[in-house]
Amino acid sequence: MKISVCGKGGCGKSTIVTLLARELAARGEEVLIVDADESNYGLHRHLGMEKPEDFMEYVGGKAGFLQSRGADPQAFLNQYFKGPWTLSDIPEKYRTEKDGIKLMCSGKIQAVGEGCACPFHSVLKAFVAHLQLADHQVAILDMEAGIEHFGRGIDSEMDLLFMVLDPSYESIQLAKKIAVMAAAIGKPVYYLLNRVDAAAQQVLIDAVPDEDKVACVIPVNPVLLAEGLSGSALTMRIPEIGRVADLITG
Ligand SMILES: Nc1ncnc2c1ncn2[C@@H]1O[C@H](COP(=O)(O)OP(=O)(O)O)[C@@H](O)[C@H]1O
Ligand SMILES: [Mg+2]
Repeated sequence: MKISVCGKGGCGKSTIVTLLARELAARGEEVLIVDADESNYGLHRHLGMEKPEDFMEYVGGKAGFLQSRGADPQAFLNQYFKGPWTLSDIPEKYRTEKDGIKLMCSGKIQAVGEGCACPFHSVLKAFVAHLQLADHQVAILDMEAGIEHFGRGIDSEMDLLFMVLDPSYESIQLAKKIAVMAAAIGKPVYYLLNRVDAAAQQVLIDAVPDEDKVACVIPVNPVLLAEGLSGSALTMRIPEIGRVADLITG
């Protein structure tokens, strides 16, 4: 199953991806996390893992891609993505692994003036389109903030979409937009409420497009807050994430 985790910046995507991956791995699922956020650098630390080399390098790096893609980037990428890919086809230097979780990183912005993140996402789309997963294998994409990935068609390659909402007007507006976009591509979407107290919970539940699709309500958790602040590995298992994992493992 391929799942994307999306939402506005800072809503808790990477935290939830980490907790969910741990929960799934503890249940015996083989998990691939794809760090698809070009602007944040902490996911591998949440996981207590080394960051692998950017997958962008697989097609010659950003500069190589921009030089060589010519007028037909799809034809260029087709040289690298011919048939189906399984998890073991991912070259070792582009994945790190720990406790049943593999981590890939599509690409990070490193330097002033290097150009936009579009090449990372073109390669990511080609990869997820070719990725074939067996039973008990789950790929989770930790997306960049916002909805550009919908525009690129990456979510069209997913089986299931999770949208994380923090207690903010922007999250509510984004949830409405994502509901429309998910419906347009025929993908199921669940809403994960994060960092909410009782008052915010009610506002968000009333505001999301489909109350029945609220998969969990996670309060502010002081341990998550402290570990997130220090950049140390997240150590907790929280029951709310168990309910999200149930949507995947049945
Ligand atoms: N339920 C929570 N309780 C306390 N802190 C949280 C919770 N969820 C996320 N955080 C903290 O909020 C910050 C942003 O979370 P993060 O997962 O990095 O967001 P995103 O990936 O959406 O940008 C981090 O410092 C993280 O530790
Ligand atoms: Mg993040």
